[in-house]
Amino acid sequence: MNEYDSELVRSILLKKKFRFVENESNADIIMLNTCSVRENANRKIIGLIHKIRHDLKGKPVLIGILGCMAADKKEELLTTKNLGVDFIAGPDSYKKLPNLIEEVQKTKLKTFDYALSDTETYSDIYPTREDGINAWVAISRGCNNFCTYCIVPYVRGRERSRDFNGIVKEIKKLAKEGYPQVTLLGQNVNSYKDGKKDFPDLINEISKINGIKRIHFMSPHPKDFPDKLIKVIANNPKSIKHVHLPLQAGSSRILKKMNRTYTKQGYLKLAEKIRAACPGIAITTDIIVGFPSETEKDFKDTVDVVKKTRFDAAFIFKYSPRSGTVATKKYKDDVSPDKKTERIVKLNELQKEISHENNQKLIGTTQEVLIEFIDRKKEAGNFCGRTKTNKTVSFKAKDCAPKQFVNVKIKSASAFGLKGDLVI
Ligand code: 5AD
Ligand code: SF4
Repeated sequence: MNEYDSELVRSILLKKKFRFVENESNADIIMLNTCSVRENANRKIIGLIHKIRHDLKGKPVLIGILGCMAADKKEELLTTKNLGVDFIAGPDSYKKLPNLIEEVQKTKLKTFDYALSDTETYSDIYPTREDGINAWVAISRGCNNFCTYCIVPYVRGRERSRDFNGIVKEIKKLAKEGYPQVTLLGQNVNSYKDGKKDFPDLINEISKINGIKRIHFMSPHPKDFPDKLIKVIANNPKSIKHVHLPLQAGSSRILKKMNRTYTKQGYLKLAEKIRAACPGIAITTDIIVGFPSETEKDFKDTVDVVKKTRFDAAFIFKYSPRSGTVATKKYKDDVSPDKKTERIVKLNELQKEISHENNQKLIGTTQEVLIEFIDRKKEAGNFCGRTKTNKTVSFKAKDCAPKQFVNVKIKSASAFGLKGDLVI
């Protein structure tokens, strides 16, 4: 989402007198688009601001902080003396950026705008994209779910969907520009609604656009997964056969405390249903270990779901309290750092084994691969791309180029990806 937002910011600033430079040593203004979802994201940004100021050696460059941290850490960003932040703009304030920058240039005083909006969707801004292969397209912004650990509803505001026709129009333009893949984005992407049109309707409409060959989306919430959506994913040939389905925890007790609104059984059933409707689909997930009061028994439930669902990959995080959230206010962060480490290591090891086994099952199969880039680190002729199940594949070839679809026969597999030979 932040990459997409940076593309919006680029468009907003390019319309005014600004231009972008390749190297930050040539910049008069440096902006960091920040994430606040976990505490170490915040820590990294503070470290980076100090490093940038240090490297500038007193050069009068303006530093701006954009994104979630602008809303989360505004006081700290504006009042910490030698941090040297000049302006901050929250996720709904990007249209005001040209004015904010002008003001700080004129007055030499810090400027800021981090007010959240109930309506801003930036649907009138066409992002300045660079990728050429996958285009991010935000279809909604904000979130109303208030999972008790999560800062997103506080820093990105209430959920609002973009207008259906505007999204379709944007993707038609992307198809004309030659983009073969779009990834629809939203904090709770599958709760998308515009009048009577819902998320499966949107995927179906986009799939009618010539030139768009793959449709991906991130991240859905298990609570908004009706059979209609499962059918579209399984049966629409343009829908990629991968679902990122955040689990967060396996214990129903913890899920309740997280306000996730589903149970362990509910999640397992949903994953089973998706696999039954679409054999071979890849399912990946997010998991938090060490949520307040998580016992060994609760953790075992998470291990159990990982074993039963056999995810293709899992992003596993240690719980960190976020300011303003219900979990921070109501629950003590009582799982020790050592316990969190022990659990994350254990889960990562288990997941690595499962990912490896899942990937090995693909050895001998032929996969349609969308080439994403030439791997220049290795010897010449090494290409990297993705299967229709979103797995990375590397292979050697002569006359290939990024953006091309090719068939690759899988020869070997690790936990993290596949290797194969081009089928001619
Ligand atoms: N602590 C740890 N992980 C978190 N996430 C969100 N909030 C927290 C938190 N307070 C994780 C969730 C989410 C992913 C983007 O970040 O797993 O799906
Ligand atoms: Fe955060 Fe939950 Fe919304 Fe995802 S669904 S952004 S975890 S509040």
